[in-house]
Amino acid sequence: MSLPFNVASHLDTALRAAAAKLGLADRGFQPEVRVADPANGDYQANGALAFAKREKQNPRALAQQIVDQLGALQADYDISLAGPGFINFRLKPAALLAWLQTYDSEEHLQSGAASARHGQTWVVDYSSPNTAKQMHVGHLRSAVIGEAICRLLAFSGAKVIRDNHIGDWGTQFGKLIWAYKRHLDPAALARDPLEEFERLYKLGNTAAEADPAVLAEAQQELVKLQAGDAGNLAIWKNINDVSLAAFQEIYDRLGIKFDVMLGESFYNDQVERIYRELTETNLAQPSEGALVVFHPEHPRFAQQPFIIRKSDGAANYASSDLATALYRAEHFKVDGIIVVTDFRQADHFEQLYLTVRKWFAAKNYRVPELHHVTFGSVNGEDGKALKTRDGGIIRLKALLDEAQERSYQLVTGKNPDFPEAERRTIADLVGVASVQYADLSQNRSSDYVFAWDKMISLEGNTAAYLLYAVTRIRSIFRKAGLDAGKPTVAADGSAPVPVAAAATAPETLQETDLARKLVKFSDAVQLATNTLRPHFLGLYLYELAGAFSTFYAADKVIVDDPAVRARRLLLCHRTLVELEAGLHLLGLRTDLERM
Ligand code: ARG
Repeated sequence: MSLPFNVASHLDTALRAAAAKLGLADRGFQPEVRVADPANGDYQANGALAFAKREKQNPRALAQQIVDQLGALQADYDISLAGPGFINFRLKPAALLAWLQTYDSEEHLQSGAASARHGQTWVVDYSSPNTAKQMHVGHLRSAVIGEAICRLLAFSGAKVIRDNHIGDWGTQFGKLIWAYKRHLDPAALARDPLEEFERLYKLGNTAAEADPAVLAEAQQELVKLQAGDAGNLAIWKNINDVSLAAFQEIYDRLGIKFDVMLGESFYNDQVERIYRELTETNLAQPSEGALVVFHPEHPRFAQQPFIIRKSDGAANYASSDLATALYRAEHFKVDGIIVVTDFRQADHFEQLYLTVRKWFAAKNYRVPELHHVTFGSVNGEDGKALKTRDGGIIRLKALLDEAQERSYQLVTGKNPDFPEAERRTIADLVGVASVQYADLSQNRSSDYVFAWDKMISLEGNTAAYLLYAVTRIRSIFRKAGLDAGKPTVAADGSAPVPVAAAATAPETLQETDLARKLVKFSDAVQLATNTLRPHFLGLYLYELAGAFSTFYAADKVIVDDPAVRARRLLLCHRTLVELEAGLHLLGLRTDLERM
């Protein structure tokens, strides 16, 4: 007997078959299986309720009829009726054991996770900062959430193309080049290039505001750049190269590797086709010199135009994003596109996707799934946007440095006797993980409050708490002289046997609760993937670590009876596997022996 990785889908299939036998399937019966409140069972099917209501039947009687068809499931589940017509399923201990025996590694968890996205191609556009500027906390959210989404999609079997859609083209380059040519400080450039570019940009901006002659000169610089002037192109390229190198340091620290970096400038020569096709399909129309798209069916975008070419004839953010969508469809043949930015770009993407859907349909191009994944702003503890003490933007580099320094204090406070170098190594990992996890543990739609003491803490739903659980399980194996990768047990004098083979089904309340939690890994991963909300996985891992703690406090693992020892070691091992697999899916490193 072996349960599939996703128990809920197993139940769904069985319930559909039962409904078909009763002739309910053609009348639109949906099983509606979900994870149950643990007090009631492991899963519950709510479908009988809605169906009976619609068909004016007695829901409890209908649920009973369905249950009568589920005889084959009785081997694995205790099935009961509850309330007005819910069907509850509780996994039997033997079924729990069978599941735990099967899903013994990250690879096996993944092989079970394949979904409808298996074999599909998805582009995820994330991080995507603008060059000549520092990356700030907003870009951190995009990078961290985007990376987790990439990993979740890949886990479900999709081919993921990570695309850093750099903002490397735009009107800011006029003022920047103007200032670069006149006021560049080579020493400052060597010291901190992004800082110097920002200074130059501000200088150019102030000068242009104060003096119309400067503004005209800056505009000339931009026109020259766009016309391909060699000198200006060289400056532009230098600014971008230097910016990318600075961004790369952050990506390395976060463990992010992009497959492509097709920035806005890559699409420069592809916008003419956009204007042509949108005009030809009657989607775009001229308006006061610009080219715009209205969406008559939309409450706001019927009046508010989507400007796809500016009145001076120049391309804008919309033109380049339209070209980007087309390129992804034609070149990568994508099944889905996900762009991760803060919520302030919601209107832009709504208009963009409305336009793309109509345009692709009119041209008979296949329309991919289009998602805009948004997130709220990062606020300081005063509830206002996070800033440095003097009101400046917080640099990511400084933020990660501080996280590592604070983690060093935490680790040192806990383990003053660890060698200094080891404390540093641990702190570097915990620091970055804490920053990542603080973001991923919250629903991305809400603003989040950046509070050092909460995020770098061994208490609560934090990276340090989860990583500590990982190291604690490792130390159980270490102390028992076992390989945490392949734990074994041996009865007196006999050869060691893998714990999974020697284990008996869970018996104590705490063993059973932990096993029941472990089986729900797949539900959490699925929920996080389908909603593109990694915090669902974070919450699961936090609850799993809690169930483990309760178990570990109640049940001694290294006991004499080899069968009991084996089943407890099995629970330890599978908890370790899932915690690590889950943290890896969120983009965190877990290679820590102790902390
Ligand atoms: N560069 C933009 C910014 O910093 C984000 C780009 C997102 N991707 C896109 N295809 N528009 O806000």
